Amino acid sequence: MSTTVETAATAARTAPAAVIVAIDGPSGTGKSSTSKAVAAKLGLHYLDTGAQYRAITWWMITNGVDVDDVGAVATAAAKPSIESGTDPAAPTITVDGLDASGPIRTQEVTSKVSAVSAVPEVRTRITELQRSIAATAEGGIVVEGRDIGTTVLPDADLKVFLTASPEARAARRSGELKGKDALGLAATQDALIRRDAADSGRKASPLAKADDAVEVDTTELTLEQVIECVVTLVEEKQAAA
Ligand code: DC
Repeated sequence: MSTTVETAATAARTAPAAVIVAIDGPSGTGKSSTSKAVAAKLGLHYLDTGAQYRAITWWMITNGVDVDDVGAVATAAAKPSIESGTDPAAPTITVDGLDASGPIRTQEVTSKVSAVSAVPEVRTRITELQRSIAATAEGGIVVEGRDIGTTVLPDADLKVFLTASPEARAARRSGELKGKDALGLAATQDALIRRDAADSGRKASPLAKADDAVEVDTTELTLEQVIECVVTLVEEKQAAA
């Protein structure tokens, strides 16, 4: 019996502690690509919190909720069932059991997501989901978003805040759309700046850098360099723990 206790205690001492990594920043900074790659390299789970806000926005649109009616959005916030798969090689998102990974990337959802995600009842609902996913992610997780280091997971082991110039961000976003950028580069840049202003300016949990976050300007870096930089930061934290 004492052997079992000793074995469990030794295992608890030697097992690597679950590491929680928060990666925040505006769109077009390479947040998703970086977060997925870092999680895959380090064998961690991955959560795209923007996809959750997009998913609830898509549900509002398909269920006829006026996204500019704050009261209606607040009342409906608890209704959809949203589930996120956290494998960085194949992340998934479902709404009421339906695969939402395609529909959440439409221009309509992109243009309405800032209004929906500014509603406090939506943020409370989605924040609870995010915390429960992070708490049960065996081995640890990389969580990307806008308010992860400041609000969702203020005790994260490592907080990274990615930035880039508006020109670089618009060029990357346009490139991601692979010739299907219906707006064109200049309008994409305008839309991106408008969305960042709305996300940074809202009262409830705005896009912000946590005081203890490491800021990485990705303007002049390749994706591989950003990934390497964040992996090194995580490994340094783990070594120091
Ligand atoms: O990362 P993304 O572009 O897919 O995010 C879509 C929107 O979701 C973004 O404009 C603001 C909102 N969002 C948020 O308010 N908080 C987060 N943690 C993540 C995203």
